[in-house]
Amino acid sequence: MTGRAASVSRASLGSAQRLIACAAVLAASALLAGCAVRSSGGSVGASDLLDFTPTEVQRIARHGPWPPPPARDAGNAQSGRPAAEAFGGQLFFEARLSPSGRMSCATCHVPERQFADGLPRGHGLAALERNTPSLWNAVHERWQGWDGAADSLWSQAIRPLLDPREMASDAAHVQVAIARDRTLACGYERTFGRRATAMPAQAVLVDAAKAIGAFVATLVSPRTPFDEFRDALVRGDRAAAARYPAAAQRGLRLFVGRGQCALCHVGPRFSNGEFADTGLPFFTRPGVVDPGRQGGIEALRASPYNLLSRWAEPAAGTADGLADDSMKTRHLRAQHRNFGEFKVPGLRGAAHTAPYMHDGQLATLDAVVRHYSTLDIERLHADGERILKPLQLSDRESADLVAFLRTLSSPSPSPQPKPQPVCAPT
Ligand code: HEC
Ligand code: HEC
Repeated sequence: MTGRAASVSRASLGSAQRLIACAAVLAASALLAGCAVRSSGGSVGASDLLDFTPTEVQRIARHGPWPPPPARDAGNAQSGRPAAEAFGGQLFFEARLSPSGRMSCATCHVPERQFADGLPRGHGLAALERNTPSLWNAVHERWQGWDGAADSLWSQAIRPLLDPREMASDAAHVQVAIARDRTLACGYERTFGRRATAMPAQAVLVDAAKAIGAFVATLVSPRTPFDEFRDALVRGDRAAAARYPAAAQRGLRLFVGRGQCALCHVGPRFSNGEFADTGLPFFTRPGVVDPGRQGGIEALRASPYNLLSRWAEPAAGTADGLADDSMKTRHLRAQHRNFGEFKVPGLRGAAHTAPYMHDGQLATLDAVVRHYSTLDIERLHADGERILKPLQLSDRESADLVAFLRTLSSPSPSPQPKPQPVCAPT
């Protein structure tokens, strides 16, 4: 391995010096050639640190830093405005937006459950066919939903409002619900500078969705034990890095190495933001197939609320924000290979969001790892390069991989956003 050769050629350097040199190189995010974090050397705790090669350190470094710089919701001029975030936070918990009076975003995206629901598949006024994803870090997704059928948080918010199985609302009901309640009416006016009753209902629906999108854009998952390890490794702080459990280190090595997980679950969020087929069964129930990304692209192109629609605006502070954001949608075309593809989910917080996959068919992280270990190669599409193959992991390797995945979640309870009403309740 290059790591061993490099450390031999640098044997004259003291290990401390070598680590400092490595840290400096990493900090400049230049190539890591010649730097290795090695376990030999015998300082306190260092024996608990695997001898990660320069390539491994470089790959691990790519999964941070965390948290990322704040991001804005695409095509949403309200995103980043405190008044809109606060009003959107209120609307997120507001069950009266549904004519049923008992269904809000928070019914399915439960704050105490990482903004997911713990069910295999979402359940609103009727049963859904897909698992409810966590909303942590959703603003950093290029596409929303397992099939990417929305290209912004605000347009993603409109779907459940209108879907008869979810909140079963419509523009007129949303307008009346906001206009009739003094706190909500006041919040709307403070946020948008006009009365909800002075606007066409559809414009109020989009405004409400944009405020909700601004709120969802603020949801960022907390730092985790992995982040402490990753930062220590990058700094060259071996004592701190050695505090990361040995099983997690071995699992991480598999994740960025032989397991090839990081080819898709890459970057600080552990997702490349794209779509893939992982060889799970297609059928949602006998005879019914979920087309995944293929249907998502068709739905997105047909959506009256996509980034090419008249409802999309340049993001606050950027004159050309719209042009950049809408480009990705403009060039999208469904292809044959998109059939049965689903979004590569980020893995932060995943320890707390069982069950897994787009339809919740795998109950635990152990089951997910078992899937990758034994998957049916015949089931996978042949087009495109074939990344996945059955890994045939040993019991210990599987346990290590799971131990690593668990370190992507914060052990302490997640901080709960507490939206302050824009106007005090009366
Ligand atoms: C009945 C349950 C339910 C309700 C109510 C609901 N959602 Fe969802 N949400 C889901 C499910 C299920 C998905 C996955 C949809 C898909 O892939 O087609 C989802 C997906 C999302 C996503 C995409 C996340 C990602 O990482 O891809 C966002 C954002 C979101 N919902 C926000 C909201 C907002 C905002 C509201 C309220 C206006 C809301 N949801 C109401 C169940 C629900
Ligand atoms: C080819 C890209 C690709 C590779 C390689 C890959 N994954 Fe995935 N992963 C996905 C996709 C796509 C999904 C969602 C699949 C679905 O819902 O149908 C997923 C889902 C998951 C989930 C469930 C997350 C959730 O919230 O439901 C976990 C955990 C996971 N992968 C871990 C791994 C591990 C560990 C490896 C390496 C052994 C790996 N993945 C390799 C693409 C990939």
